[in-house]
Amino acid sequence: MPILVTGATGTVGGSLVRQLLAANHEVRALTRDPASPAAAALPREVEVLAGDFARPHTLAPALRGVTRMHLVAMDGYGPLTTGPEILELARQAGVRRITHLGHNDPSRADDDPIEAPHRPLHRAIENSGLDWTHVFPGEFMANTRDWAAGIRAEGVVRAPFGDWNSALVHEADIAEVILAALTEEGHAGRVYQPTGPEPVRRRDAVRMIGDAIGRPVRFDELTPDQAREHWRDLYPAEVIEWFLEMGQHPDGNAWVAPDVEQVTGRPGRTFRQWAADHADDFR
Ligand SMILES: NC(=O)c1ccc[n+]([C@@H]2O[C@H](COP(=O)([O-])OP(=O)(O)OC[C@H]3O[C@@H](n4cnc5c(N)ncnc54)[C@H](OP(=O)(O)O)[C@@H]3O)[C@@H](O)[C@H]2O)c1
Repeated sequence: MPILVTGATGTVGGSLVRQLLAANHEVRALTRDPASPAAAALPREVEVLAGDFARPHTLAPALRGVTRMHLVAMDGYGPLTTGPEILELARQAGVRRITHLGHNDPSRADDDPIEAPHRPLHRAIENSGLDWTHVFPGEFMANTRDWAAGIRAEGVVRAPFGDWNSALVHEADIAEVILAALTEEGHAGRVYQPTGPEPVRRRDAVRMIGDAIGRPVRFDELTPDQAREHWRDLYPAEVIEWFLEMGQHPDGNAWVAPDVEQVTGRPGRTFRQWAADHADDFR
């Protein structure tokens, strides 16, 4: 019986697919476009089916014959608003266990403009009648891939807040936590917050990428106004303001959670390891 992985063409989903295959599970992948290069690059053994969260009925073929699924809470760039319909379809199709990769900052109120759009999905999952596991990671190491073009072209990273300190997490560790929740007992009703094993300052992450590619990378620190301009075409305005607000608290994301080690039995991968794994993206 296949395990359905949504977001399989993405950072965490891609790692999850490889880990499930390595553990001899049958994998079905959902994508909006099976002809896209990312979908075509999925391993041969994966059954790739089309479906779009924005039109929940399109998920019916992917859900057929599935009892376990991984749900990435994405709809393009925005939060997943069709979650309740997707959950009902999944339940009707026979899904019993679901892992949910999403966003949550428990320190923020339910009416916070960044948090509010996510919370109804969390409640819908918890009330779905399925065995659910929420996975709410810290900041991804993979976000630093946004720097790849600047590093390849000029050997420079332009970003604000060089002292921003974050327990960046490797996608393979997030995927390993999800793998455990999908394939082992004892994870139902749990909320995991995978982080990396140590906080990393932004300017140090830049240096470690330089070490991994064998040439120095310069860090040009932007002011908040310069960052607004730099990010204008990359992120929605409210997300930019959220990034800038977070950046005012340099150690705001430095908290290291024990979850990766508790679930997988070993410490999370370091940023140095991530940079070595992905050095070719920056060359
Ligand atoms: N980045 C961070 O620092 C961070 C931190 C905490 C939590 N998160 C959470 O992590 C998740 C993102 O994971 P990721 O970085 O692995 O994703 P990603 O690399 O950005 O990939 C997004 C995936 O979502 C799929 N997708 C997007 N819209 C879809 C739709 N309408 N219907 C079906 N599939 C759709 C895409 O599939 P196709 O394009 O193939 O259709 C793709 O596989 C989000 O829930 C986010 O809140 C991220």
